[in-house]
Amino acid sequence: KYPPRVFSGIQPTGSIHIGNYLGAISQWVKLQDQNEDLILSIVDLHSITLPHDPHTLSTNILELTATLLGSGIDPNKVILFQQSNVHAHAELCWCLGCISTMARLAHLPQYKEKSASLKNIPLGLFVYPVLQAADILSYKSTHIPVGEDQVQQIQLCQELARMFNSKFGETFPIPHTMITSSEYGRIKSLRDPSKKMSKSDPDEKSRICLTDAPDVIVRNIKKAVTDFQSEVTFDAEKRPGISNLLSIHSFVTGKSIDTICKEAEHLDTGRFKLEVADAVVAYVKPIQDTIAQHLSDKSYLLNVLAQGAEKASNIANDTLKEVHEKLGM
Ligand code: ADP
Ligand code: NA
Repeated sequence: KYPPRVFSGIQPTGSIHIGNYLGAISQWVKLQDQNEDLILSIVDLHSITLPHDPHTLSTNILELTATLLGSGIDPNKVILFQQSNVHAHAELCWCLGCISTMARLAHLPQYKEKSASLKNIPLGLFVYPVLQAADILSYKSTHIPVGEDQVQQIQLCQELARMFNSKFGETFPIPHTMITSSEYGRIKSLRDPSKKMSKSDPDEKSRICLTDAPDVIVRNIKKAVTDFQSEVTFDAEKRPGISNLLSIHSFVTGKSIDTICKEAEHLDTGRFKLEVADAVVAYVKPIQDTIAQHLSDKSYLLNVLAQGAEKASNIANDTLKEVHEKLGM
């Protein structure tokens, strides 16, 4: 009954790293190239749920836009927009919030995790998953690419869609999750390979960002934590550090892990790190050039976002109108 449509969001909270690129952006480019109906939102309303710096946020929004374009997202094939430019998200969030319960939201693991260290918990942080449901449902999206850590938030979205439909009449599809973890799984932190690489890790040496200068990439990979064994072998459980570097190498060169291990038979891990660094630098170079080119043309970036917002608003406003009517407004 509902045509297939994929929705995904990304927070403008920091520089995009190779984990985000492999786990999310490159998957979106694949969906785009398969001509899927894809809507991508830079979810700035989500990124103010924790204390933030306005200047950094506005810089991050433009940098993320340039990074997405530099990574191959084509704004003529995908609707790419900034969430706060489409007012329907916040309005639908209100309507869905009125059928959500405090008990249900307080149960979500991400909320518990993020609020644990806070003395005064912002209401926005509590409502965050309802806004996420509004993001998805504003477009009657049917498929949501997510990592395992997001599954519970999507379950809330599915519940809210079901609840709204049964109370007020069929309005929303029940969106499916698409687990898009690539064959490599999660890319790990360079400093602590028991954790995933993350934008929010305070240690900048823990990640490889798409916008890092070549010497920074080389330095961080050289310092990547491995183990006391010098051979290059893959064992994600017992040797997570070197295995993570093998995954990264395989991703950027397209070679299989087996082939890479064979080719590295005579190398120790130190020498191998230099190879990985060279391969990563070569891979990101053309992406970096395009990002730099886009960043030097701010008006182009703003224009892309304005056109995306117009297309997104057309769809989201229709949904909101239908929701208001169903609610008797
Ligand atoms: P971060 O932890 O870097 O802030 P987010 O939670 O904002 O990342 O996730 C943005 C997207 O990138 C999500 O689709 C997520 O699944 C993907 N992603 C984040 N970190 C990794 C990683 N280390 N490996 C693979 N994919 C990742
Ligand atoms: Na994060």
